[in-house]
Amino acid sequence: MIGIALFGAGTIGRIHARNVAADPGCALRWVVDRDLGRAEALAAQHGGRATDDVARALVDDGVGAVIIGSSTSAHREHLMACIAAGRPTLCEKPVSDDLDDARRCIEAANKAGVRVAVGFNRRYDAHHRAVHLRIREGAIGKVEMLHLVSRTNPPAPAPASVQASGGMLREKGAHHYDLAAWMAGAEPVEVFAAGDCLVDPGYSAYGDVDTAVLTLRFDSGALASFSFSRRAAHGFEEMIEVFGSEGMLESRRQPALGVALWTKGSMNEVGLHGSWYERFSPTYEEELRQFLRLAAGESVEIATLSDGVRAQAVAEAAIVALRQRGMQRIAKIW
Ligand SMILES: NC(=O)c1ccc[n+]([C@@H]2O[C@H](COP(=O)([O-])OP(=O)(O)OC[C@H]3O[C@@H](n4cnc5c(N)ncnc54)[C@H](O)[C@@H]3O)[C@@H](O)[C@H]2O)c1
Repeated sequence: MIGIALFGAGTIGRIHARNVAADPGCALRWVVDRDLGRAEALAAQHGGRATDDVARALVDDGVGAVIIGSSTSAHREHLMACIAAGRPTLCEKPVSDDLDDARRCIEAANKAGVRVAVGFNRRYDAHHRAVHLRIREGAIGKVEMLHLVSRTNPPAPAPASVQASGGMLREKGAHHYDLAAWMAGAEPVEVFAAGDCLVDPGYSAYGDVDTAVLTLRFDSGALASFSFSRRAAHGFEEMIEVFGSEGMLESRRQPALGVALWTKGSMNEVGLHGSWYERFSPTYEEELRQFLRLAAGESVEIATLSDGVRAQAVAEAAIVALRQRGMQRIAKIW
């Protein structure tokens, strides 16, 4: 039974707390949030004690592992504290909102030999995973092009939330840069990004966009394109297509229910899920199972801090590319 300290009692913190409470291999020992009332409410629901002080949780010998689900702007401080305390940690994506911070985290984790996983839960989606495995089996030959679509249904986050979340190219983008590299089996080398505020001009005040198209080149020669939007009026939309020398693989847009109504002259299918959580909820449960095995010292398939920093490096270069309107080299710091 692994005692878990959970940092962050917001949207993702509530998901992790529920899963920790439901998993027989672990128990919630601390919920930490700078908003103590939030921490107390979550602890009352799922167990453990509440505090607004990460150090208090980290000195507790009963804490065997930490999940960081605090705002992106707090990740570096929290991750460094976990590394210094020698606790295996699952850190939500993106690792940070700053490339130097991400570099310091990876250096510190390597030096201390602390196991750090990053919350790329989409790797556990059955459809995405099947595409990855078939690529590795050689089903489509050499990967030449990838196309990833991620459009999120309303409500879009408030523009001011960008200060804590790091913005769309980090927050949403990190998942997709990771999936692309995982599927391509290659390292990203340069990126171009074009974007605008087509949904809400309010994002521009924070230097962010709500609509973007990116192209990414890998060291294998493979090219990836990404289509991101913070508004999909028709539901939560995600699709990945991988084109190779011997064929093509597709992780399709998934309907919320595989049901169609056929009547004379027409056919109606159930549409997309209402939210990213509806679409991906089982992946967070599997991620936790794998993380518990990692914390117990087993060798598992989980996204590492290197994977997180790779995605971060792509995000940082993409943000520069967007501002400077030109292709950017990606600093290889992972
Ligand atoms: N893997 C996924 O699919 C997924 C989904 C959603 C969010 N996330 C990530 O999870 C993180 C949190 O996102 P969210 O949507 O839950 O945000 P949120 O704003 O709902 O919650 C963040 C919580 O962190 C707390 N916090 C912020 N700074 C803190 C500090 N210094 N010390 C203690 N507590 C602090 C806030 O009070 C808040 O309760 C982000 O990095 C986000 O990118 C990942």
